[in-house]
Amino acid sequence: MPLIPLEDNFADVIAKAQRGYGITDAELATRAEITPAELDAIKAGEARLPLIRRLARHLKLSPDALEVLAKKEAYPKAPIFPRGLAMFNTPFRTQTVNNYLVWDPKSREAAVIDTGTDASDLIDFIAAEKLRVKCILLTHTHEDHIAALSALVKATGAEVWSGEREPVDFPGARTFAANDYFHLGVIAIKALATWGHSPGLTTFYVQGLSWPLALCGDALFSSSIGGSPTHFREQLKNTRARIFSLPKDTVIGPGHGPLTTLAHERKYNPFFAPDRIFKIDPADPTGATADATPQKPARAVALPAKPRAGKAGRTDLNQAKPSPQTKKPSKSARPGREGQVAFKSRRSRSK
Ligand SMILES: [Fe+2]
Repeated sequence: MPLIPLEDNFADVIAKAQRGYGITDAELATRAEITPAELDAIKAGEARLPLIRRLARHLKLSPDALEVLAKKEAYPKAPIFPRGLAMFNTPFRTQTVNNYLVWDPKSREAAVIDTGTDASDLIDFIAAEKLRVKCILLTHTHEDHIAALSALVKATGAEVWSGEREPVDFPGARTFAANDYFHLGVIAIKALATWGHSPGLTTFYVQGLSWPLALCGDALFSSSIGGSPTHFREQLKNTRARIFSLPKDTVIGPGHGPLTTLAHERKYNPFFAPDRIFKIDPADPTGATADATPQKPARAVALPAKPRAGKAGRTDLNQAKPSPQTKKPSKSARPGREGQVAFKSRRSRSK
């Protein structure tokens, strides 16, 4: 079973930041004092580190974290959940998407968070563990995250819940508000409003398992984010306020890519690492001599999940080890739509 690669490479992160801030190639090249040809080469995947650091300073990204990403030197390590959490990874076009099952080991009450594109392994797991699925909670309703919703409802009879700001077109679906709770025996799941990638994107904060857990859909990926060309700043703001304020040992379960921890993302995520440059130093406009903010080392815990990429499958959370990032081409981030806010309508792909 191959490990899940990081969802985005450094060129993807540059493209998402550039798109989010609405900066054209010509503007970016001028600001960073590099040639258009050099920018093209970087965006095509050439890891020209000094130039990448310079670009980072003009995209409010962490130069250090972006360099680490370009050098493929960081892969997250997430701790073991002996029980109460299973991760599934199913194919979607040329990529994969994650969904999760959370349960209370005593009462056997369970909740599914997103469905992925194929629920067959999830349904088999639910039967094998004799779980009773009370609810299916949707982080957001982009197609890859809800493709197996009908099959899952048919198999479990569970209620479907989506954020009240997130458009959902499913018979009988119910909505929750920000900060609402769901309970599974001793497990509490709080709905955190982390919208921006989509109008009502929700992070489900799970308390009561071995580690605090945030299942965040496309709000946050390891070393990247889901992105949003229309509400990028809001996404960053909401993610920073509601995910990065959680306990630092919180495990992050993203909609794409590997499990990670908040501590790892604080150090290695170019969008959130503390040495992001917000104001250009007039004495050092290119950032060539800027020093990075000293960082505490990320807490190394246990090994991450090891799912089957490219085939529907459950992650064995007890068997995983880190691996180098797999390089992938740049991709676009697309949001959904929102009632009063001009989200662009798009459901075919979520990240
Ligand atoms: Fe999405």
